[in-house]
Amino acid sequence: TADIRQKLPLVNIKALVTAGPTYEAIDPVRFIGNHSSGKMGFAIADELARLGADVTLVSGPSAQKSKQRAVKRIDVTSAAEMLEACQEHYADSRIFIMSAAVADYTPINVATQKIKKQGGESLTIETKKTVDILKYLGEHKREGQLLVGFALETNNEEQNAIAKLQAKNLDFIVLNSLGDAGAGFAVDTNKVTIIDRDLQKTAFDLKTKDEVAADICQKAISLLRQ
Ligand code: CTP
Ligand code: CA
Repeated sequence: TADIRQKLPLVNIKALVTAGPTYEAIDPVRFIGNHSSGKMGFAIADELARLGADVTLVSGPSAQKSKQRAVKRIDVTSAAEMLEACQEHYADSRIFIMSAAVADYTPINVATQKIKKQGGESLTIETKKTVDILKYLGEHKREGQLLVGFALETNNEEQNAIAKLQAKNLDFIVLNSLGDAGAGFAVDTNKVTIIDRDLQKTAFDLKTKDEVAADICQKAISLLRQ
């Protein structure tokens, strides 16, 4: 089997994948989160491992399990923890695929005690921006590293995705079409368009997330070989 492994396209290549949501604590029992299931990121990590890569998967809270036992999983909760885990692994990784739905804002103050109901009719929670992990990695990208991001848009989809591709110094971006039935959160299928740094665009059909993961990995392999 060692011989068979040697022939895999990503053998000896380290990959870092993020998956799932992040939870930003409000108080000891509450958080700001989102509906990301982690399915897409886990499928990508499995596919990279199947292709021979040495995969580290940084996952926010998710019920998913890796099918490939070789995937090294790091569990995190918040955007800050996810950033820290990615920073630890960025120097020696070649492929980065950031599919996590990272919170854009986090509460400024985390209450140490459970917040009690107040007299008034409204409650305001002040938040501050999180670090954009993908942008950080784009700013620190080295020769030979391949950086892939996702974009979830509801309007001006391609224009917004291209803006993210360029602002974050990505090699390609995977645009999710959440508007389509059977695509997006929790479901097992997804419809994506891949746009690369040369603005080459490929629109894929509605597929299973495993199939989408395979398409993303093939694109990564073809760019690594350029
Ligand atoms: N991302 C990240 N760190 C953040 C926010 C986003 O790494 N703090 C990554 C996501 O994993 C994804 C990409 O950036 O790969 C795009 O995320 P998205 O939410 O679509 O875009 P944003 O740049 O956050 O902009 P907006 O939410 O305003 O559309
Ligand atoms: Ca965002």
